[in-house]
Amino acid sequence: MDKIVIKGGKPLKGAVKISGAKNAVLPMMAATLLAEGRFEIRNVPDLRDVKTMAHLLRIIGAKVAFAESRLVIDTSDCGFYEAPYELVKTMRASIYVLGPLLARYGQARVSLPGGCAIGPRPVDLHLKGMEDLKATVVLDKGYIVAKARKLRGSSVSFDVSSVGATGNVLMASVLAEGRTVINNAAREPEISALAEFLVKMGAEIEGIGSGQLRIHGVSKLEPVSFDVIPDRIETGTFMIAAAITGGEVEIQKTDPKLVASLTSKMRMANVMVEEGESVIFCKAPERLKPTNVTTSVYPGFPTDLQAQWMTLMCLADGSSVIQETIFFDRFAHVAELRRLGAQIQVNENVSIVTGVGKLIGATVMSSDLRASACLILAGLIAQGRTDVLRIYHLDRGYEKIESKLVGLGANTWREEGSS
Ligand code: UD1
Repeated sequence: MDKIVIKGGKPLKGAVKISGAKNAVLPMMAATLLAEGRFEIRNVPDLRDVKTMAHLLRIIGAKVAFAESRLVIDTSDCGFYEAPYELVKTMRASIYVLGPLLARYGQARVSLPGGCAIGPRPVDLHLKGMEDLKATVVLDKGYIVAKARKLRGSSVSFDVSSVGATGNVLMASVLAEGRTVINNAAREPEISALAEFLVKMGAEIEGIGSGQLRIHGVSKLEPVSFDVIPDRIETGTFMIAAAITGGEVEIQKTDPKLVASLTSKMRMANVMVEEGESVIFCKAPERLKPTNVTTSVYPGFPTDLQAQWMTLMCLADGSSVIQETIFFDRFAHVAELRRLGAQIQVNENVSIVTGVGKLIGATVMSSDLRASACLILAGLIAQGRTDVLRIYHLDRGYEKIESKLVGLGANTWREEGSS
């Protein structure tokens, strides 16, 4: 497995371009199964998760070509309705093929997922949604087996707002007979982007961006061309990288509206943030002010930036409280940050970070995607050398992170097959 080595202490300076959003492109790729023909998706990040989804689509029978941020998917010859364990265990988002397969072919066999090690991540809401649309769903030897001669529109109400379940039910409902209402739908921008993609294909969806999606099923959808929205988590990670290293960075090809909750917290922490139409400029303050965050659903503070925020707060002038409300035990990075000298106490889903003024380089291990990013941030500021092991997690979600950091002046490199 590869590792990333960082010699910390260099303020980041310059400009960086943000890639397309991983969490937007994955459901769009699954949604191509809803129509027959040739799709083109642009601004696609070159990530392991995108390759895994491409592999899954090929197993199902699609032809997939990927070059220069452009995906071409031809779904004319699909005829296999299974997502095998070997793939799904490496990427939880594989479950996104459940809704499209069921809607278009009336059957799907999808392994129960694996993915990031961030506590228990059930799929009960996905299954309940399919049952609400009158599919029969059984679990058989680790697989979800779902069937429906024709899905029927229905009222689907989620107790918990779930990005994945909303996307899956939305994709299933666009070809269902009649009207579907999804209550407590996720409002994340990646779900709105998926809905826009489906509308372009010919779906009838009202309430996009709100907590209630209303869908009128149609009998047929068409292939389309589409541009993926910028990755708000990559954007936020670079904003924090500028602030933590005492740097000044212009973040380009992004959308400031997507990271408004982070921007407001950054300003509270004394970071200077200026916004243009597709650009954000971040300049570090002399002293970082401790600032509490509580993760919540969009437009609240994203759980996918919690670990990175914690690293920033390790350098603040006092104590801050970080509360995680989406994935209660998403604190695997704490033990690794402590190895670098951080002072963090955890009590259930609340952690208290005491700013320490400096971190000291060491060898640390990534446990999941966003935890890997927080360790890279820590390495950028730590004195001496930091080796971040198991960075295959990072390759799932950050396109060319080390070359982007080098472009901003960081002293970092990848060592292949070294741990
Ligand atoms: C997506 C994102 C992930 C992000 C998360 C929360 C993708 C590919 N991944 O993950 O990066 O961290 O949203 O913003 O887009 N839940 C249930 N039952 C279910 C499904 C979810 O109880 O069937 C719970 C989860 O345990 C969690 C909450 O709902 O507590 C939100 O999870 P969800 O929004 O579904 O996350 P994902 O779609 O897996």
